[in-house]
Amino acid sequence: MINLQEYKLKTIEEGLTKIEFPEFDKISSDAPVFYNPHMELNRDISILAIQTFQKEENRQIDICDLFGGSGIRGVRYKNEINGVGQVSINDISELANNFEKHNVELNNLKDIEIYQHDASMFLRLNRGKFDVIDIDPFGTPSPFLDSAGYCARRDSLLCITATDTSALCGTYKEPCIRKYNSKPYKSEYCHETGLRILAGFCALTLSKYAKCIEVLLSHSTEHYMRLYLRIKKGSKRTDEALKNLGYISHCKNCLYRETKQGIASSTTNICPECGEKLIQAGPLWLGDMQNKQFISKMIEESDNKKLNSKKELLKLLNSCYIESKSPATFYDVHSICRLLKVSAPKLDLIFNELKKEKYFAVKTHFNPLGIKTNAPLSKIKKIILKLPK
Ligand SMILES: C[S@@+](CC[C@H](N)C(=O)[O-])C[C@H]1O[C@@H](n2cnc3c(N)ncnc32)[C@H](O)[C@@H]1O
Repeated sequence: MINLQEYKLKTIEEGLTKIEFPEFDKISSDAPVFYNPHMELNRDISILAIQTFQKEENRQIDICDLFGGSGIRGVRYKNEINGVGQVSINDISELANNFEKHNVELNNLKDIEIYQHDASMFLRLNRGKFDVIDIDPFGTPSPFLDSAGYCARRDSLLCITATDTSALCGTYKEPCIRKYNSKPYKSEYCHETGLRILAGFCALTLSKYAKCIEVLLSHSTEHYMRLYLRIKKGSKRTDEALKNLGYISHCKNCLYRETKQGIASSTTNICPECGEKLIQAGPLWLGDMQNKQFISKMIEESDNKKLNSKKELLKLLNSCYIESKSPATFYDVHSICRLLKVSAPKLDLIFNELKKEKYFAVKTHFNPLGIKTNAPLSKIKKIILKLPK
């Protein structure tokens, strides 16, 4: 039995919850029990997403915190979300399990069980048991997604974090191909491509079990990406959902890009604008990455919760809300201006011009200088050239 008194403890508070863990010098996977203060925003958003999901389902929900660490997610979910039944916190580390138990007691909570299993094994042993599965591993979630697909129940919620952004964004191509069976490309919108690769991989992995995804919310923040997926069942439905997979073809010479749906369809190889060879990224998810109704309910729900990151969180959620139904990829104004060898006009002026000409044009959470629009690149270039600098 591990004696917790042997450790110098650090106490933190997130939301309505108090958590203790052994003090450490540097945030790393070598910490005796992992805790990352920079992930508070991620956890706060999860509280709103799971509460919104619970209200939509209108029933008591059971939650699995698959990679518990200090237990902060499982403990917060039970403590701060209404309508939660049983919470199962799992971690492969015995020391983590001891602190998870300690933190359950510290917050006077019932109906939380602690487990020590390999994550995949735990999911295999508990098929169909959870309404929400939270997957928050070190690095990539890829090795655990097959078991998540096996375990996930109809109409459940999967919350997935990936911190291997260098692979997903294409800084290193091979790890992305190995882990996500998809070719990345490091363009100015590579964070969006990465998030779409992650969603596409989830869709393909779950399809083996005749399960499909609906993306409720997705975001790329600092060093991680996060997806909230509603899981549906049925082979016909899954076949239909897989039509959202496809490729992005990009021209690094003139920044032209196009998308092509279908994982076995042929893609354009030559840029129609400048004749250069196009580079392909994919397969990836070309379907919706944000669900407007769900996000707006999350925003409303934020009034009912005490969340330390509320300001930042609302900024992000509002941006994701605006992005729903927008086309894949965005234009980075500075990249276009560099190419045109002109200084950048004010972003708002570009938006005004696009809207005047009846194009869809919104900002994006991926990049403060990004424009998501259905206007062709040639039109954006023309507008940039004519505007005062
Ligand atoms: C990123 S931390 C979890 C952080 C936690 N969810 C939070 O929000 O603070 C990952 C945790 O997974 C555990 N872990 C690593 N490999 C595992 C595996 N194969 N199965 C289950 N747990 C594992 C580690 O012990 C570590 O506590």
